[in-house]
This record gives sequence, structure tokens and C-alpha cells, in this order.
Amino acid sequence: MDTFEAIQNRRSVKHFDPEHSFNPNETRRLLEASMLSPTAFNMQNWRFVVVSNPGLRQDLRTVGYDQAQITDASLLVYVVMDRTAHSDRPERLLEGCRSGGWRADGQHDGRLLRRQR
Ligand SMILES: Cc1cc2nc3c(=O)[nH]c(=O)nc-3n(C[C@H](O)[C@H](O)[C@H](O)COP(=O)(O)O)c2cc1C
Repeated sequence: MDTFEAIQNRRSVKHFDPEHSFNPNETRRLLEASMLSPTAFNMQNWRFVVVSNPGLRQDLRTVGYDQAQITDASLLVYVVMDRTAHSDRPERLLEGCRSGGWRADGQHDGRLLRRQR
């Protein structure tokens, strides 16, 4: 599919068939595709929480402006983040900073600014 065609035809889906359910393979495929999403410094600090307990989904709907899709969608996934991810192998963040032009003294070497001119 053409990229611009995909952008023009994209829609937010708001109504779901509460009778439909994904099988485990479909769910896995969707989550694996989600894991291809980019993160700063490739920290991959997203966490995908699948909420399948109906009572919990109802509670979340109550605090979620009573939006029907919270209980009716075939899959409810909360995307949350690990806020401590930067402490795991911090050297990779340093390397990312260095390759982006940041010096040890906290100043930038101006390489991006030069490139933009
Ligand atoms: C930050 C953000 C939050 C949103 N929150 C909700 C939401 O809580 N419930 C919902 O049904 N749609 C939500 N939407 C979807 C918007 O309602 C939708 O993108 C907008 O109506 C335009 O429709 P379209 O995406 O089909 O072009 C959200 C969109 C964004 C960008």
C-alpha cells in the first residue's frame, strides 16, 4: 500500500464487536509488531499490559470516561513505560549522546546546527 494512501485512509476505530476475540497467535503477532516501535536510545522501555479480567476492564472503563471500547474491544492493551530503564547499561546512553554530538562537559559540538544550514 502507498504510504500516503495509508495515512489518508487511517481512522480511529471506536466501536467494536464484544463477541469477537483474538486467538493467542493473533495476540502475540500484534504485540510483537508493537515491540517494533521506536524508543529513545533504543531503550525499549515500553511495557505492554494486556488487561483481560472483565471486572478490571469494567473498573478501567469507569475511570476512563465510561468509554465502551475499554470493555468491548477484543484486546485491551495499556502501554506503560519502565522509568528506570536508563539505569540498565547506561553506557549505551552515553554512546548515543556522544554519537549525537554531546560532549562530556554537557555542551553540544554544533554538528547538527551546522548540518541544518
Ligand atoms: C492523544 C489522543 C488521545 C485520544 N484519546 C481518545 C480516547 O480516549 N478515546 C477515543 O475514543 N479516541 C481517542 N483519540 C482518538 C481521537 O478521537 C481521533 O484521533 C480523532 O477524533 C480524529 O479521528 P481519526 O483518528 O479517525 O482521524 C485520541 C487521540 C489522541 C491523539
